[in-house]
Order: sequence, then structure tokens, then C-alpha cells
Amino acid sequence: MITIVIAEAALETVPHDLLDHPSVTRTAERRGKKPEQTLLDISYHYAAMKNMRDWGRRGRPDITYLTLLNLLERPINKERQLRVYVHTARDLIIEIDPGINLPRNYSRFVGLIEQLFEINRIPPSGLPLMVLKKGRLSDLVNNVEHSKVAFLTEAGRTPKGDYYAEAVKGNPLFVIGGFQRGEFYGADLELADEKISLYRSPLDAWVVASMLSHELERALGII
Ligand SMILES: C[S@@+](CC[C@H](N)C(=O)[O-])C[C@H]1O[C@@H](n2cnc3c(N)ncnc32)[C@H](O)[C@@H]1O
Repeated sequence: MITIVIAEAALETVPHDLLDHPSVTRTAERRGKKPEQTLLDISYHYAAMKNMRDWGRRGRPDITYLTLLNLLERPINKERQLRVYVHTARDLIIEIDPGINLPRNYSRFVGLIEQLFEINRIPPSGLPLMVLKKGRLSDLVNNVEHSKVAFLTEAGRTPKGDYYAEAVKGNPLFVIGGFQRGEFYGADLELADEKISLYRSPLDAWVVASMLSHELERALGII
């Protein structure tokens, strides 16, 4: 089993001190929601966010959406050889059932995640497809059985030819950043047994997710 974690994801509800900002209240009202029930999104909330610490790494739910689609719809997941988790920048962990059928419409995904943040599980009753818990990346890594932890970063080393074939002999855990800019926080990077780079320049997280899955599918003989 392979684990892929989307880490430090720019996925959160609007923080308390921005709830009264006009860009937040206006967007929430248009959607018939209370501000605290809505996701922080820099496309709508830039005016409110621009003075926030780390504003350049927050408010991008689309990164998690596209990365999840690129993982959950791949053959490696259809063959049930993959577990995917999301760890958010505010230390929440989302456990995802591999059988989930993610909405193909972004607005519907946003609605789903807003519901998850409100009631901690999706759907509200029956077998959960997504569960939200508190936890740091280290908690997640410690609770998931793995043979090694590999962080994907452009500052890593290029994997050698047999890297993936060797990796899939164990149960590796890969970590991809779910944020738009910068590097992982130091405390998280310390969890890495190794750091690997797929290309000499930064790529979008969902491109990295797809490239990594492709390599793993080939190594596992799925494709
Ligand atoms: C958009 S990047 C993060 C920002 C990027 N470090 C920058 O400063 O532009 C999102 C994530 O994709 C992964 N990533 C991006 N480029 C990569 C590369 N060339 N090789 C391996 N992983 C990469 C890393 O996990 C990174 O945290």
C-alpha cells in the first residue's frame, strides 16, 4: 500500500478575525451561508487576506481539489493500492475513503468541504467517505504504517532509475505540499527520510501528484 499526503494544504474556513470583512460577508451572503461556514479563498477574499501572515500560502482550496482528483481518479487508486490523506496548514487531517467519488464540479467540492468542516464527516450518516480530525503532520505520519517518508520538493534529489521499483517493495509514504508558494515548514521537513525532485523548477501540486502516481503505477505493473 502506498500513502500520499497532501500536506500544509491551503484549505481552511475563514479565520475568526476576517469574518466581518466586507469581501467575506459579501461572498457568504451571495452563497446563502454564514461567513464562518465558508472556505477561505484568495480569489474572493484577497482584500481581507492581504495583511495576514502567510497570505501567499493560504486560501487555495482549488489546489487540494485538483490534487485529489489527480490521485483518486488514477489507476493506482482504482486498484486500491493507494491511501490519500490531506493535512491542512491549520493542523487538521482529512481521512478519505479510496472509493469516494469526488464531484467533478469545483463549486460542489467547496460545498462538500464546507460541510465536512462543519460536521467533521461526509456524509452525515452511514459509512464515512471523509473524516476530519485534529492533528499535525507528525501525528499522521506516526499513525500510518510506512517503510519510509519521502517529501516531494524541487530542492530534493532526482530519483535514480530503480527508485520507484525499490520503493514499492515497501509501503512508502509520499508528501506533496498543498500550498501555492514556498517550502514546507522546517518541523514538517524533519519528518523526511528523503527528499525527491521530479523536475528542476517548481511544479503545481496536482502535476506532481499525477507524475508521481504514474511512476508508481508503472513500478507496480498496473499500467
Ligand atoms: C506549488 S508547489 C509549492 C511551491 C513551490 N515550492 C514554489 O515555491 O513555487 C506545491 C508542491 O508541489 C511539489 N513540487 C513542486 N515542484 C516540484 C518538483 N520540481 N519536484 C518535486 N516536487 C515538487 C512540492 O511538494 C511542493 O510543496
